Order: sequence, then C-alpha cells, then structure tokens
Amino acid sequence: MKDYKIAVIPGDGIGIEVVDSAIKVLKHLCKKKDFNLNFTNFDWSSEYYFKNGIMMPNDGIKQLEEFDGIFLGAVGHPDIQDHITLNGLLLPIRRAFDQYACVRPSVLYPGVETPIKGLKPYDVDFIVVRENTEGEYANVGGFQYENFPEEVAIQSAIFTRKGCERVIRYAFELAIKRNKKNHVTSITKSNAQGYSMTLWDRCFEDIKKEYPQISTNSLLIDAACMDFIRKPKDFDVVVASNLFGDILTDIGAIITGSMGLASSGNIDPSKNKPSMFEPTHGSAPDIVGKEISNPMAQILTAGIMLTHLGEESTGMELENAVKKVIELGETLTPDLGGNSKTNEVTEAIISNL
Ligand code: NAD
Ligand code: IPM
Ligand code: MN
Repeated sequence: MKDYKIAVIPGDGIGIEVVDSAIKVLKHLCKKKDFNLNFTNFDWSSEYYFKNGIMMPNDGIKQLEEFDGIFLGAVGHPDIQDHITLNGLLLPIRRAFDQYACVRPSVLYPGVETPIKGLKPYDVDFIVVRENTEGEYANVGGFQYENFPEEVAIQSAIFTRKGCERVIRYAFELAIKRNKKNHVTSITKSNAQGYSMTLWDRCFEDIKKEYPQISTNSLLIDAACMDFIRKPKDFDVVVASNLFGDILTDIGAIITGSMGLASSGNIDPSKNKPSMFEPTHGSAPDIVGKEISNPMAQILTAGIMLTHLGEESTGMELENAVKKVIELGETLTPDLGGNSKTNEVTEAIISNL
C-alpha cells in the first residue's frame, strides 16, 4: 500500500473550516483505495504569530521538506498587515520549494450561474499557469528615510530567462496534455514594461517554436482582463507573470461562479520538492465563523494534489463528486445561490463519492 505524507496547514479564517471539510472527504475517499494519506497538522497561522511573533518556526521549511505534499487553507488576518502574514509563510514556501508553476483551472460546471450572459456549461474551460517564484513578487526592495516626509520605497521585479522559459514551457506541455484547443495565450504588459516583460515576450517567441502543433497569441494584461469577460471561450492555457496571474485568476473564479470553486496548485514539476495545494481564495474574514464558506475549492484542490501524487483517477472521482452536488443543486452554500452550511455540502460530497 502506498503511503503519502501530507503536511496540513489550515492557517486562518475560513481556511480552517474548508481544510477540515476537505480532510473529512479525503479520509472517506482513502478508505476504499490502495493508497493512504498520512496527515500531519501544523498550527502555523496568525494565531501562531500572535503567540510567537513569527508565522512559522525558523526551521519551518526544513520541517516541510520530508513531505510528499503540503495542503494549505489560507492565511491572512484583519489585525496583521498582510505582507507580514504572506511573506512569513505562503510566499517563502512557494519559493523555497521552487513551486514555479501555479496552476489554476476555471471551468464553468453545469448548474453554476455565471455573471456573463449567454454562456453554456463548459463554455469556460481554461487553466491559468502563473509564474510563482519571481516576477513582481520577488522579495527585493526597501525603504529609504522610512516614515520621514522624504520617504522612498523601492520594489523590484525579477524576471530571469530561466524563470520565464520554464513556466512558458510548462504551459505548452499542459496544452498538449489537455488536448482541448491546443492553444497557449501569453500575457504581459510589454508596451509599458520595456525590460522585464520584453524578456518574457522573447522567451515566449523562442519556446513556441518548439511546439508547432500549438497555436498561440499574446495579449496585454488590460486587454486580457477584458477578454476574460468578453470572450472567455477563446482561452485554453494562459501563461502569465506572478502578479498578472494572480489578478486573472480571481476573474477566472468569478466568471465560473465563485471564489468558492477556484482550485489551485503550486507545483514543482520536477517533483524534487513538495508541492503545495491551496485554493485561490483567501481567509475570507467577512464570512468566517458563519458556517457558510464553500468547501468545494479546497476539495477540488485536494483533487489537484491527488493527481500530482499520481492518483489521477481518484482526483477525477473527487471532481466528479463535487460536480454532481453542484448539478443536483440541492446542497449549495450562499455563494452559489443556496442556503446550505459548509458541513452539509461536505456531507453531500461524501455521499456522492
Ligand atoms: P478572499 O478570497 O478571502 O475573499 C474574497 C471574497 O470571496 C469575499 O467576499 C469572501 O467571502 C468570498 N469567498 C472567498 N472564498 C470563499 C469560499 N470558499 N466560500 C464562499 N465565499 C468565499 O479575499 P480577500 O478578502 O481579499 O482576502 C482576505 C484575506 O485573505 C487577506 O488577508 C488576504 O491577504 C488573504 N489571502 C490569502 C490567500 C492565501 O492564503 N492563499 C489568498 C488570497 C487572499
Ligand atoms: C493568491 C493570493 C496570494 C498571492 C496573496 C495572499 C499573497 O492572492 O494565492 O492568489 O497573490 O499569491
Ligand atoms: Mn490571489
């Protein structure tokens, strides 16, 4: 029997609620499988920060190294500046484990209402591949004359040829694997950012020559935001820098129904280091404790984790169970127009497995 070691970091806010749901579903699923998931819980979070002044122990990365996967809810607390929470846990893990491909699917499932007029199920079916270790999120910069009237802030973006090429290549490989529209769209803002983003453009031009069977186009981020809404059917695989991918995937989430359906994986394609699986959404302080958080994004994220671990058919089973509950339309949280509670949705998914 195969055994996978999974580090679980529920984190903050609804992260704790939806991770609890997803673990229940995974435990149920594993009962009838020929593999086992061994969960180890880590209480690294804003509560941990209030006690210790740090988001995770100094040897946190070392502790996570031995795991096959990291399953994270969300971090972020209204009483702590976000750059402290996120730069203390989430972003260092993505970088330390070289999780350079952040994959975020957006699929319009049957039974989900979209704010875009005239769309049928599966009219939206794309994946954004977001560069996840450098770009605008490089932790490089500083203040001069902090808190003085002359204060200066510098925040540098880092784009390396290696970093651009590897994530673009990943996007092409994914388009081949999907075998849907066989199309890759590259997103930049190279009309304004004449260094970093033109390097990206040149890398895209070079890599696409290796994949003559895949059609391509390049869009500027402003126009891409418009087209995600105006003609979302056009997209298949979209590859973008760290910040642009972040923004685009919230649009992708809402045109396919809800943040509560948006799954995500931070992938180290080499599998040398553990990848991390967390939904696209955050800790949602506006709904925490109300028992109305939608656990589906976290559960679909568990499906991405299983697929990455090599348990592809089980990952698909999980997605199908979620799809079934959506299509039945009887047990949905308010974000999807229902009035069910988080635990009722969890139970419904379990009974559809
Ligand atoms: P958010 O994603 O937490 O919430 C945005 C909106 O979507 C809110 O109205 C929320 O109620 C709704 N929503 C999100 N997930 C939902 C779910 N599962 N079910 C139903 N509704 C859901 O974004 P925000 O409000 O901008 O950020 C809140 C905090 O989370 C901030 O501290 C932010 O920095 C942090 N954050 C963390 C992560 C992460 O850890 N990966 C991601 C995004 C934001
Ligand atoms: C996400 C989040 C994070 C990001 C934040 C919380 C740092 O918005 O995972 O989409 O921008 O990567
Ligand atoms: Mn985001």
